[in-house]
Amino acid sequence: MSEIQLVVNGKPKIVISPEPHTTLLHWLRDTGLTGCKEGCAEGECGACAVLLRKPHGAGSRLLSINACLVQLAGLHGQEVITAEGLGTPEHLHPVQAAMVATGGSQCGYCTPGFISSMADEYYRPNRQAFDLEALSGNLCRCTGYRPIQEAAFGLGLPDSSDAFFALQNQAAPEAQPVLLEQAGRAYYRPTDLHHALKLLEQHPKAKLVAGGTDWGVEVNLRGSRAETQIAIDHLPELRQVIWQNDVAELGAALSLSELEHLIGNKIPLLHEWIPLFASRLIRNSATLGGNIGTASPIGDSPPILLALEAEVVLVSLAGERIVPLEHYFTGYRQTQKQPNEIIKAIRIPLPLAEHAKFYKIAKRRMDDISSVSVGVALRLESGVVNSIRIGLGGVAATPLRALETEAFLTGQPWNLGTVQAAAKIMANSGTPLDDHRASAAYRKAMLEQMLLKFFAEVRP
Ligand SMILES: Cc1cc2nc3c(=O)[nH]c(=O)nc-3n(C[C@H](O)[C@H](O)[C@H](O)COP(=O)(O)OP(=O)(O)OC[C@H]3O[C@@H](n4cnc5c(N)ncnc54)[C@H](O)[C@@H]3O)c2cc1C
Ligand code: FES
Ligand code: FES
Repeated sequence: MSEIQLVVNGKPKIVISPEPHTTLLHWLRDTGLTGCKEGCAEGECGACAVLLRKPHGAGSRLLSINACLVQLAGLHGQEVITAEGLGTPEHLHPVQAAMVATGGSQCGYCTPGFISSMADEYYRPNRQAFDLEALSGNLCRCTGYRPIQEAAFGLGLPDSSDAFFALQNQAAPEAQPVLLEQAGRAYYRPTDLHHALKLLEQHPKAKLVAGGTDWGVEVNLRGSRAETQIAIDHLPELRQVIWQNDVAELGAALSLSELEHLIGNKIPLLHEWIPLFASRLIRNSATLGGNIGTASPIGDSPPILLALEAEVVLVSLAGERIVPLEHYFTGYRQTQKQPNEIIKAIRIPLPLAEHAKFYKIAKRRMDDISSVSVGVALRLESGVVNSIRIGLGGVAATPLRALETEAFLTGQPWNLGTVQAAAKIMANSGTPLDDHRASAAYRKAMLEQMLLKFFAEVRP
């Protein structure tokens, strides 16, 4: 296979033999669609945002994504809409007209990206008011945000005759298989899990690509290249949420936006956390499997999932095995996952502990990586700690459980005295380092404070 076919702004496009790491952004700009811009090439500024039509129930959603982090090869058979495709100078799209009316653009560098994210929110099903969080991944360096906010808040609801609104009632394009081999490099998109595992067996060094929000940064900023990439984001077996009486199984390749929609408030800790993760642009692509797949000691989800006593479902051609998350990380960026395995799902035991919280200490509340993070899940019985699970991030080479603190508190009355003593123990968890995000002393202080904060918030 040497062709990638996709639909851009309603027109079919054929791309002959793209280099497998070519980003959607670079290709769009090379074709003359220069509305989307390269600002940072790492998912931080949103200047590159475009809309991708993704599955949503029986229909589809126009979701804004960072074109700088997506590889063109992964979009075979998909449909992309850029700011140029939303409206024309003669017939502006309502979002574009609103930005003109409020003076929401000066140099214009950021504007097409804002238009894309605004259109995503404009077409959000059952929207009552404009959620400004939709723009949290877009930066503007000159206009200032007030006129942009005014444009957003001034938008009405789409007309039923609106072509893009109608498009969302149609099913998203099906994932097409990709077997692109070009210049000694390959990009494969298997359409079922068995095929993916066979490819992985043949190419044990292949890079698995889910949302690409981590891998895309590696490619763009660190110049990483993989001989073989295997896209797993469309594998149906990795894209389901299964509820059983004693466990919830969350598919590893669901994007965080999809997960948010599918689980609602059934797992309150995840419901609280997902909006804190990066920006909506990133959440429209980033997956839970990818967050664990990076094995980063400062990834958000591990402390939460450790508190929830989650397990990782690993799958290979030999079958499935389940590894408790607390044993999954074995060293800095090292895990129990073997090269022939894929993370299929994350299992969360039910029922959930009645009190649970996640604290992410970062320089900014939103769209930032944490310096320290703490997940806590507590079960109380008559004012006594029946069980407590505490997951920590940013204080060691791996995410870890605060086992000593947990042991100290178990069976103790849940009162200020015991929690203060436990907080002193918690401050000594892990082996925090001084780095550009925070000092070791600050990290220790935060550990102590977070347990006290949890107590203040969870009084029996
Ligand atoms: C602007 C920006 C903001 C960010 N903010 C946050 C944040 O607030 N909190 C946070 O924790 N992270 C953050 N990240 C990091 C990143 O978005 C997350 O780690 C995300 O969850 C990665 O998911 P992905 O699907 O995009 O992974 P990918 O980039 O596709 O993959 C990441 C790694 O995981 C592996 N992998 C992916 N899926 C699987 C699987 N199913 N089985 C086995 N291996 C797999 C890949 O091979 C790769 O090594 C941010 C990134 C950016 C660019
Ligand atoms: S160029 Fe900045 S997010 Fe893509
Ligand atoms: S208008 Fe110049 S960066 Fe936003």
